[in-house]
Amino acid sequence: MNPVLSVLAIFVASSLLFIRCGQYPANIPYVPIDITISTFDPQFVSLQAVGGWAYLNGGSRGLILYRASIDQVNCYERHCPYDTENPCGKVSVDSNGLFLVDNDCYGEGCGSRFSLINGSVVDGVAIYPLKQYNTSFDGVLIRVFN
Ligand code: FES
Repeated sequence: MNPVLSVLAIFVASSLLFIRCGQYPANIPYVPIDITISTFDPQFVSLQAVGGWAYLNGGSRGLILYRASIDQVNCYERHCPYDTENPCGKVSVDSNGLFLVDNDCYGEGCGSRFSLINGSVVDGVAIYPLKQYNTSFDGVLIRVFN
């Protein structure tokens, strides 16, 4: 095969692989964040236990904090990464407290679900995982920043 065509074929194949794996960031607006909260605040006591979660104002359409382990708290953007122009594209924790589900308020059937554990796509039409923000946690204070 022509070397130029070989390089082109490898490039295209690599691009498709990345797209399928959802590695490209979705087009979610950048909003500067630097928030520190305390797990002793009554609004956030749920984060004292591993598996606990809480909503937090900030980001593009709001944030969700998830206590992933003894020393790790994850922070997800609620702006759905599937159709970022859709004003309904916002995820919420489902009634079981296991997944983050897109509102799908237009009833388009695109209510994708994401893992509360790591923000990855569980099912639905979404390709990209939920956007995550940087966090630090000292056992009491949680800082969210970008
Ligand atoms: S906008 Fe999120 S799945 Fe439809």
